[in-house]
Amino acid sequence: MNSDSPSITAFLTAAARAVHAEVDGEPLILDDPVALRLLGDQVPDFLWYQREYPAHPLMAQGRADVLCRTRWVEDVLAAGVEDGVDQYVLLAAGLDSFAHRNPLAARVRTFELDHPASQAWKTRAVEEQQIPALGDLVHLPVDLEHDDPVDRLVGGGFDLSRRAVVSWMGCTVYLTREAISATLASLARLASGSEVLFDCMAPLAEDAGAAAAERAGAMNVAMTKWGEPWRSPLNHENVGALLAEAGLHRVEYLSTRDAVPPETWERNDALSANPRSWLVRAAVA
Ligand SMILES: C[S@@+](CC[C@H](N)C(=O)[O-])C[C@H]1O[C@@H](n2cnc3c(N)ncnc32)[C@H](O)[C@@H]1O
Repeated sequence: MNSDSPSITAFLTAAARAVHAEVDGEPLILDDPVALRLLGDQVPDFLWYQREYPAHPLMAQGRADVLCRTRWVEDVLAAGVEDGVDQYVLLAAGLDSFAHRNPLAARVRTFELDHPASQAWKTRAVEEQQIPALGDLVHLPVDLEHDDPVDRLVGGGFDLSRRAVVSWMGCTVYLTREAISATLASLARLASGSEVLFDCMAPLAEDAGAAAAERAGAMNVAMTKWGEPWRSPLNHENVGALLAEAGLHRVEYLSTRDAVPPETWERNDALSANPRSWLVRAAVA
């Protein structure tokens, strides 16, 4: 991403969460009223697209992806907290609003790490909108192409002897393979039993059809224009090897569709899971 401007894709994913309650029906996958406050009126186009074309496959599948993965990590965290976890790391946090919205935030110490330009935009928005944190929240800038995230965490008061849940959503696709490997190797230094959750993308199926291929191509063009090209180094085929190389082991590999309770899909709106989106749950041995 451009080093001096905030991530455009962080605005995109926040817009998806912000409009969900407005444009989709029941059941809600995630209730995120804070996302709208964070976005304010500063990036109206992204909200406009979602509101104007909520049923377009690009919008509906993209929204479902973001909602399901956010819901999934918070469900995994909730189980971890019951089991004694008290540190939560949002790596490449973007405009994630967990710390300002989810009552679990009062039971964990939350560390938000992100590229300095994105983080500065978010902390300014939080201040301007006067959105309180519900618990202990630490912001730490990190450029994953150059910095070691666990060094940053330790410098910010993270307790390496205690377990953590790490959410690293919507980021690996924008990084080089070297940065992904280095980040996974860094996270392998966390306390045994810590969990690392991230997403990856399967290649387009041969029978996906021309419309799906065209949509994927169009997204790629847009991302490149916005300075965040899809490098897509983490996928179905290489994720296992990358985890093993880093010393993490895979606990779960599940489709976005299966990451949320089955009744999520008993609905009459346009939301549907993208068959290419997969979620990975890895653990520190
Ligand atoms: C698509 S957004 C995802 C944000 C959030 N996790 C979510 O799911 O809504 C991508 C995030 O990756 C971050 N990112 C991209 N390149 C980065 C880098 N080199 N170092 C740290 N963060 C980076 C951006 O700042 C942005 O917050």
